[in-house]
Amino acid sequence: MKLPGKVKIVEVGPRDGLQNEAEFVPTKVKIELIERLNATGLSVIEATSFVSPKWVPQMADHVEVFQKINKLADISYPVLVPNMQGLEEALQCNVKEIAVFTAASETFTQRNINCSIAESFDRFKPVMDAAKEAHLKIRGYVSCVLGCPYEGEINPQKVAEVAERLYEAGCYEISLGDTIGVGTPLTTQTMLEAVTQKIPTHVLAGHFHDTYGQALVNIYAALTMGIHTFDSSVSGLGGCPYAPGAAGNVATEDLVYMLNGLRIHTGVDLPKLIEVGDFISKYLGKPSRSRVNLAILAKKKI
Ligand code: HMG
Ligand code: MG
Repeated sequence: MKLPGKVKIVEVGPRDGLQNEAEFVPTKVKIELIERLNATGLSVIEATSFVSPKWVPQMADHVEVFQKINKLADISYPVLVPNMQGLEEALQCNVKEIAVFTAASETFTQRNINCSIAESFDRFKPVMDAAKEAHLKIRGYVSCVLGCPYEGEINPQKVAEVAERLYEAGCYEISLGDTIGVGTPLTTQTMLEAVTQKIPTHVLAGHFHDTYGQALVNIYAALTMGIHTFDSSVSGLGGCPYAPGAAGNVATEDLVYMLNGLRIHTGVDLPKLIEVGDFISKYLGKPSRSRVNLAILAKKKI
């Protein structure tokens, strides 16, 4: 079994991490979070969502956040875009990468973006056409790949079908979301087997929420199948307002700790990342979900 030598981490803390926070996080804190993440060696930081503030009030300051962050040349700052209205605003802000999002569950899609899966593709068409014309990179998300809060089990063939449509529509990377964190290594592998029958492994990313503490083992299972891009959230923040019961994403600190231990390169400076986790946990007034801390690192000389 050969694991990849290098993993790309997509830090989704400023978006997925904060979108579910009940109390509005001030814009200056969101900006400071991103700027602290800038100094950790991450190459992708999902900055915010150009979604309706009626649906996700926490992301209502997306324009200001995106405009004010210091954007470093070697870091990508993708933003979520659900429709033409979001894309137009994103283009005005000179965004370079967007992410469109749908799901393998009809009910979740309806609750999350107020349309069916088929309608979501009709909606993406003009968004993606205009984005391509403006030379933006386009990432695609499929939610509920290992289970849905409304429908329960999801057929891996459905995940493969939706992922293939996103790929064919022009997404350079497809992130497979275990939105409610119900997957296990076996269901992860079964789902990935179905998806990799349809699209190349190297375009896939894993996005694991950690509700039942399975995210790292699921990532390990995905690594053994050649997946080398993973989304994670500093301090293990996260959740989706339309996925009841979903806990945070896998903590970026835990992911980097595991990958370091596997001698897989990420380019991320773990002590600096832990300090960012401490900063945001302290602001939010709740303990980090990551169990990796500076004292442990010092003891283990990692
Ligand atoms: P709708 O209500 O059908 O849309 O929502 P609408 O076109 O009728 O617009 C309703 C109102 O929103 C209008 O305002 C629009 O102007 C405004 P009004 O006229 O009533 O004053 N509006 C917007 N405002 C700003 N930016 C926009 C925008 N669009 C409309 N882009 C819509 C449809 C898609 C807009 C809505 O359902 C929505 O924004 N949903 C987003 C939900 C969301 O962000 N969920 C979390 C992200 S997905 C996730 O977390 C999963 C993931 O992490 C992977 C995983 O874990 O599985 C990615
Ligand atoms: Mg998510």
